[in-house]
Amino acid sequence: MSVRRWAVWAGWLVSLTWVAMPVSGQAVDVHAPMRAAMAWLATPWSDAQEKALQAHSPPRDRDAILRLPGSTRTYRRAQLASTIPDWWPQDHPAMPTIVARGRGKGLPCAECHGPGGKGIAHTATLAGLPAGYIVEQLQAFRDGSRVNDEMHFEASHVSVADVREAAAYFSGLRLTSRRVHVVQVARVPKTHVESWMLVRTRGGGTQAIGDRVIELPLNEEHVRLGDERARFVAYVPSGSVARGRLLATSGAGKVAACASCHGADLRGVANIPPLAGRSPTYITRQLVQLALGNRQGVANQPMQHEVSRLSLRDMISVAAYAASLKP
Ligand code: HEC
Ligand code: HEC
Repeated sequence: MSVRRWAVWAGWLVSLTWVAMPVSGQAVDVHAPMRAAMAWLATPWSDAQEKALQAHSPPRDRDAILRLPGSTRTYRRAQLASTIPDWWPQDHPAMPTIVARGRGKGLPCAECHGPGGKGIAHTATLAGLPAGYIVEQLQAFRDGSRVNDEMHFEASHVSVADVREAAAYFSGLRLTSRRVHVVQVARVPKTHVESWMLVRTRGGGTQAIGDRVIELPLNEEHVRLGDERARFVAYVPSGSVARGRLLATSGAGKVAACASCHGADLRGVANIPPLAGRSPTYITRQLVQLALGNRQGVANQPMQHEVSRLSLRDMISVAAYAASLKP
């Protein structure tokens, strides 16, 4: 091979590398951090794990009478295996059958969302959602355009009439106070998933928060007992709330301001759901699910556009800001 031809080859090889670099740069999976985040966002847990956990905890008196401070109701521990406790009946009107007891294979909504629709971060707060929006979500869960195993099962086993009744019930309820206290920090207690929630790992010390929301019950046992007045603390990275306020109110030059659709105070407008005062873990999970293509459909198109421009840190920031607002 002549020197000249070799030089041409070498030049070609060099240019190939230059071309290859941006190509391999694009191949980086921008959603990898979001996929990884589902480990703490979705708090995965199963009935079998719960059973094993109970079997390994110190034997508890099945006849023990359980109480919550301020509630006039009492339950025997053994009763909780078959009864959905309703500690605060004064907080909601009479529940429709599908909510309280379920029907056929359709499980009672209250089992996962609580009699008052307050839910936990693993599920969702239904109190105060627009009825039309609830009906649409059940359709999406059923046809799989919104991905979630628990709700896919539920939506496949409830009648249209029961969905309508449940939607009317939950949309008539109100979130009256902040349940989650948002705290901005650099470090958090080490945690793990247990009973469908993040809990402190005893003797685990602390770790850097990174790009996470660490939402913890103030009293784990009360949440396990189904206390809907239970309160939570949500640790978020320092600076999140201010950054989130900017995104929500102005779009920060990146997106359309969330407030332009969800309302100035993020309390929702017509069929657009409220975000104020809701679990920041839940809100972040939905933004991540939208980005991963696990929430699709015509109604979601404005949101698809929003999330395509948001980083995981942006999502956490805007969720932290929304959670800090009065519902
Ligand atoms: C076995 C547990 C379980 C039962 C029973 C259940 N849900 Fe859910 N529900 C969930 C989980 C988990 C989510 C969160 C899904 C997600 O992250 O996308 C959810 C989410 C929802 C949402 C979405 C809320 C939002 O803001 O978009 C609606 C609406 C809903 N459920 C309605 C109901 C209704 C109505 C019933 C009773 C007919 C019911 N659910 C019964 C577990 C349950
Ligand atoms: C152009 C209008 C529009 C803008 C701007 C917008 N949203 Fe939405 N958003 C919607 C609509 C419509 C839905 C309901 C989609 C559906 O029916 O599934 C929604 C749903 C959501 C949900 C799911 C709520 C739930 O209960 O599951 C979240 C979270 C959310 N938006 C957050 C945001 C954030 C954060 C921003 C700003 C970064 C934003 N939205 C900006 C229109 C908008």
